[in-house]
Amino acid sequence: MGLVSATDMLVKAKAGKYAVGQFNINNLEWTKSILLTAEELKSPVILGVSEGAAKYMTGYKTVTAMVKAMIEELNITVPVALHLDHGSYEGAKKALDAGFSSIMFDGSHYPIEENIEKTKELVELCHSKGVSIEAEVGSIGGEEDGVVGKGEVADPKECKMIADLGVDFLAAGIGNIHGKYPANWEGLDFEALDAIQKETGVLPLVLHGGTGIPADMIAKAITLGVSKINVNTECQLYFQEATRKYIEAGKDLEGKGFDPRKLLAPGAAAIQTCVKEKMELFGSIGKA
Ligand code: 13P
Repeated sequence: MGLVSATDMLVKAKAGKYAVGQFNINNLEWTKSILLTAEELKSPVILGVSEGAAKYMTGYKTVTAMVKAMIEELNITVPVALHLDHGSYEGAKKALDAGFSSIMFDGSHYPIEENIEKTKELVELCHSKGVSIEAEVGSIGGEEDGVVGKGEVADPKECKMIADLGVDFLAAGIGNIHGKYPANWEGLDFEALDAIQKETGVLPLVLHGGTGIPADMIAKAITLGVSKINVNTECQLYFQEATRKYIEAGKDLEGKGFDPRKLLAPGAAAIQTCVKEKMELFGSIGKA
């Protein structure tokens, strides 16, 4: 199967009360590890690409070509969406042109009228190509690739206004932040989530900042309408820890341990472990 839009998988997830993971990719190892795990566990999967990661990988076209080829070469049969994460207005158009199958337009930093206007235009553009689109209301806190959000809790009425534009799924800030949660984090605002779901009905909701959210909060968020959960930092931390262990054990100094295919192998295996744990937690195993 080639790339698919994320709409179908998330409609099914919302109805089935589980969530599909969006795992952000940075390079070939990341992509391969995530695809292999999704296939092994028969789980649908969304590969997230931030604008910074796309630039790092030399551009949207390179990313699309790599992912499409990898799906074919690895005989991946589960549904895979290639999704722009926190896209700007210009970035959304570029990723769309390059063949991404799903787009997030993050207009949360604009006044709501401008967010509505730009989202509306991009909804039409994406849908004319059969591509799914995610919008955001109430910025997600923390910093990701230079995009800094204050971490507002979204206004349910504004969520409804954006939902009515025909977006396929909606990211709404509910006290979640990107990166590690601070020790004094107050947790997710479930009252806000409930109010947002009441306003937006069957629309799948997206929980950003999936790294480090305790299992009970994830389960509750899913019962309140979250159908897509984004994970980025946690895979990076798993990769870093495994790579550190390899180097600290002096394995890079033994034989051909310096070969990048050996040096990056423990980190790549650790990403697989991380993705597996998340898919178990989100309930997406066997749902492909
Ligand atoms: P984390 O890096 O906190 O897992 O957040 C990922 C994310 O929300 C990507 O949009």
